Amino acid sequence: MSKTAELIIDGKSYVFPLVVGSENEVAVDISQLMEKTGAVTLDLGFKNTGSTKSAITFLDGDKGILRYRGYSIEDLAEKSNFIEVAYLLIFGELPTQEQYIKFSDDIRTHTLVHEDIKKMLDGFPSTAHPMGVLASLFCSQTAFYPESLDPNRANNAVYLSIIRSLAKMPTFAAWAYKNAAGHPVNYPDNKLEFTARFLKMTFALPGQDYEVDPVITEALDKLLILHADHEQNCSTSTVRIVGSSKASIYSSISAGVNALWGPLHGGANQEVIVMLENIKNDGGDTEKWINKAKDKNSGFRLMGFGHRVYKNFDPRAKIIKKAADDVLKKLGVNDPVLEIALKLEEAALKDPYFVERKLYPNVDFYSGIIYRALGIPVEMFTVMFAMGRLPGWIAQWMEMRENKEPIGRPRQIYTGATLRPYKAIGSR
Ligand code: CMC
Repeated sequence: MSKTAELIIDGKSYVFPLVVGSENEVAVDISQLMEKTGAVTLDLGFKNTGSTKSAITFLDGDKGILRYRGYSIEDLAEKSNFIEVAYLLIFGELPTQEQYIKFSDDIRTHTLVHEDIKKMLDGFPSTAHPMGVLASLFCSQTAFYPESLDPNRANNAVYLSIIRSLAKMPTFAAWAYKNAAGHPVNYPDNKLEFTARFLKMTFALPGQDYEVDPVITEALDKLLILHADHEQNCSTSTVRIVGSSKASIYSSISAGVNALWGPLHGGANQEVIVMLENIKNDGGDTEKWINKAKDKNSGFRLMGFGHRVYKNFDPRAKIIKKAADDVLKKLGVNDPVLEIALKLEEAALKDPYFVERKLYPNVDFYSGIIYRALGIPVEMFTVMFAMGRLPGWIAQWMEMRENKEPIGRPRQIYTGATLRPYKAIGSR
């Protein structure tokens, strides 16, 4: 007999089915709730709400588990590469060698962006944050490929949009950086794969040779894998909800970039470094800053700490902490900010405030330290996150489309004024 849940409202009982996932997660299916009872649920921040059924990413926040399509993040970060992980997320299986070569060649074919994009870039002042530029350039693809606006286009046309998104992302990201630096842009070198191509476009200067460093490429590729998907977080839910109106894939991804930008989400990686530098410049008294984070009136939070779903540890943070150590050693970098980070982590993990609330370092806590060691400027940190998250956004957008999900449209409980007669207050 299938399991059910009983809900009693005003003494009247209603029965709802339970849905069980492949890892035995349980949900109460309330899709008939309004019809049966006239009531809605209220769940600010969707803390208890499953918005979809998904076969892409599994995470268990209590056990610190993260898997893409059933493969553990530890295995993928150690043995795979970003393009293979992108294929896995989007198409559901690891590619054969033939599939990998085709996918990677298809991406290389589309790395160039329309020359008019440079005119758009020229319109941005160099003070423009690269995330704003990235979101705008992504959305502009709807103008260059208007056929992408057709929600009923065939799967091979959708494939082309996916390839174009993956191909042009490093170009857009590097150009957003060049705009901030006030430097001329570089064109993609198609002999290079995704990560190395991005590095060369970002750091090569006119008239100078630029050799991509394999240590930097490998570390960055690992970071991109760790960020590639994270089920129904703020930016991914945004991508799915924008896509549910049958908006194009480019506008859905552009919306995802904007959602990621905020300091409580992907923007935290930039804020972590700003915070660590502030602590260093303030004399390095970590205790003082921990106390500030505990004081609700200060408006200050320990950036890079806490997570909506991880309540034990963030497996990505564990891998990144080790990778940060390796990279700093390999590159011979001695970053005083790392010492502050270690002191802060040690003090917070002993402090009852953080222990009771299960606040641990998250993926953003150490990623900034690696990005700095790799020479990535701080305002580009969230762009790095967006580059990594792109395959996840695409996979989730595709799944939403294939499942023919209805338009996302939550309800509300209205708390404003009830009907009142209009009476002019001033002269007009
Ligand atoms: N520093 C101090 N207190 C905190 C922090 C923090 N970083 N995070 C949460 N708290 C407290 C919060 O004040 C609340 O306390 P109380 O129960 O006394 O009211 C309690 O812990 C629960 O916090 P919440 O805000 O209700 O939790 P949430 O699930 O809504 O928020 C979060 C999760 C990640 C937004 C939050 O922990 C936070 O703001 N962290 C700092 C920003 C950050 O590092 N974000 C990156 C997240 S990981 C990358 C990603 O996937 O986006």
